[in-house]
This record gives sequence, C-alpha cells and structure tokens, in this order.
Amino acid sequence: MAPSAVESVPAAADIIVPKYAVHKGVYKELATNKLDKEAETSGKDGFQAAKYPHYLPTWNPEQKYPPLTPFEHVEHGKNADPSFPNLLPSGTQVTHLTPTIGTEVSGIQLTSLTSAGKDELALLVAQRKVVAFRGQDFADLPISEALDYGAYFGRHHIHPTSGSPEGYPEVHLVHRGAGDNSVDQFFANRTSSVAWHSDVSYEQQPPGTTFLYILDKPETGGDTLFVDAAEAYNRLSPLFRERLHGLKATHSGIEQVNASAARGGIKRREPVVNEHPIVRTHPATGEKAIYVNPQFTRDIVGLKKEESDAILKFLYDHLAYGADFQARVKWQEGTVVIWDNRVTQHSALIDWKNGQRRHLARITPQAERPFETLYEAAK
Ligand code: SIN
Repeated sequence: MAPSAVESVPAAADIIVPKYAVHKGVYKELATNKLDKEAETSGKDGFQAAKYPHYLPTWNPEQKYPPLTPFEHVEHGKNADPSFPNLLPSGTQVTHLTPTIGTEVSGIQLTSLTSAGKDELALLVAQRKVVAFRGQDFADLPISEALDYGAYFGRHHIHPTSGSPEGYPEVHLVHRGAGDNSVDQFFANRTSSVAWHSDVSYEQQPPGTTFLYILDKPETGGDTLFVDAAEAYNRLSPLFRERLHGLKATHSGIEQVNASAARGGIKRREPVVNEHPIVRTHPATGEKAIYVNPQFTRDIVGLKKEESDAILKFLYDHLAYGADFQARVKWQEGTVVIWDNRVTQHSALIDWKNGQRRHLARITPQAERPFETLYEAAK
C-alpha cells in the first residue's frame, strides 16, 4: 500500500531518506491513525454510521511480528482453463474497459466459485490486469471466511503499519471517516493525489492476486486508477528493453515505517529493503512487466545516482502518462476489484467531497519472488 485513503489522510510531511530519494515527493505518506469512533458507529452531521462497523480500523501496538520468511507460492493461474468455463459461464456479462487492461464482470458470485473457478480467476486477472466484479456479496461474509477465500491465492500479507479490523491484522483497511476534512487539507499542499505504486513491493515476495472491496463509498469520486505495466514494457523500443534486462532495483519499506512512527503509529514488523529485477516475468502468462514504482523503489543497483535517477524518472513518467494503457475503476456498492499486483500499479484518487466516508478492505496474498526471464527480441 501506499497512499490510499486510510493510509490515507493527508500527510503530515514527506519523509524522504535522502540516500534513496529520486526526486522530491518520491515518498508520499498520506496515512493517519485517526478514528472518530462515535461518528463512525452512530453517524454525525447528516452522515450515516459506517455500513460495516466490524471493519473499522484499529491500530494495535501489541501486534508484533518476526521478519517474513520465504514460502513456496503456488501459481493457480498456470493450470487454469483459458476458456474460463467455471468463472464466466454463459450468461455472465463481461465488458473490457480498454484493449489491454480492465474488465468488468457481473452475473456471477465470487463466493460461489469452485477451486477450478478460482484458478480461472487468477488467470483472468493476470491477463486483464484488473477486473471489477459487480454486485458481490463478498463484503457480507464473516471476515474469517473472506480471509479463507483469499488464502487460496497465497500467504496473507500483514501490513507493517496500516489499520485493520479488530482481531484481523491480515486485512488492510483504507478508511477516511465521515466528517473528516482532510481532503481539503490535502490539497492545501498538493496539486494532485495521484501516487502510483505496486503494493508493498519492498517485500521479498510481494503480493500477486490482490482483492479490494468497497464497504462505504463517497457519492462520487474516490475511483482507483490502474496502469498496465506489461503494456508499458511492450511500448519501449527493443534497444531500451534490452538495456533494462539484467538490472535490479532496491525497494524500501523503511520510509513507510518511519512515517508511521512520526505520526505515533504502529510498527508490526521491522522494515526491509529488497532488490528485484526491473523487468519481471509473470509466472502464468509469461508476460514481462516494468517493476519499479515511485513509492517504494529507491535506486538501480550498480548505477551512479544521476544515472539511476534518470532511468527511474523516465520509467515512472512513462507509466504515469500512459493513459492509453491505463484503466479507471469506479466503485459501486457490492464491487470487488481484483488486480494482479505483479503487472500493474494503481493509485487511489482523493478527490471526493470533503466529509464523506470512503472505506474499503484489502486482502493481499503474497506471491513468488520476482524473477526475470531472458530478453527476447521482437519477432
Ligand atoms: C491501495 O492502494 O491498495 C488502495 C487503493 C484505493 O484506495 O483505491
């Protein structure tokens, strides 16, 4: 995660570790650990109470975890039937939002999928990068059952700093409460809330198939943007692609933990820095994707600072300006959005009318350690 609406709320300050800073604003921390419990449970100033009070955020300083250890990830998309008979039976409505990224599906319930359907789900999400399932009952499951569902796709990630429902640290919450005036405060110091990132890319085994579901939404706004990092790779010239192959970049979780400490927040685990290939390969589709993001990537291993900064800035700009390989998901009640965090980046948009509640839950299964396969010249 990075700036989203819970980790959300405007930003005390940018916290930049100079050694790692690529350009000003590289790490934008929007989080706060604020909860107006009464407003959220009973309503306030014309705002209703939260629809899912058992999902309100808590920050428990007693939750402390040892460093993550390696585990073997099973990639379910690999063995899935690519005609999707269990996931998309006839009668299902499927709409592609753009040619390469983004699909909307309605007419099926995720909670009714068999294992074969879940395998197809992993593959569809890998191919389409982000899929919005409408009219879902997923948020109504007991939290433990939602977690059991997510566990099919990988080991649950427990976020080092974010709010979670009481007793369920595996659920990452995005929450900005009713009556909160932080949207206006945010734009006092910022021109835009766009902050592209791939979730917790600093982990040795970052997340893959990732679930985000809406609990309460503003009347309008608060959409989520996604960029197709595989198509972004494909758009590069063969020579530039070839140059990127073999390079690794560092990804750091230090600043996020520092920012949490600076606002009196929690630290569930000591932060880590890991190196990942700049071009990673998806284990199910074989697609190659750019894997650096401005929230967590710090430098390219072996290059001098100016060289590393210039290449990273080019890649961040390329992803950010690529409106012709991006999709925008609009939340509706009952929407579950699933993306493949290995081949996408995303950004919440903090643009809604001040004071409205935005509340979502994320289930974040970890996947394989990023790997790269050899550069192949275009045929
Ligand atoms: C996230 O960054 O994982 C959440 C995105 C959102 O709040 O829309």
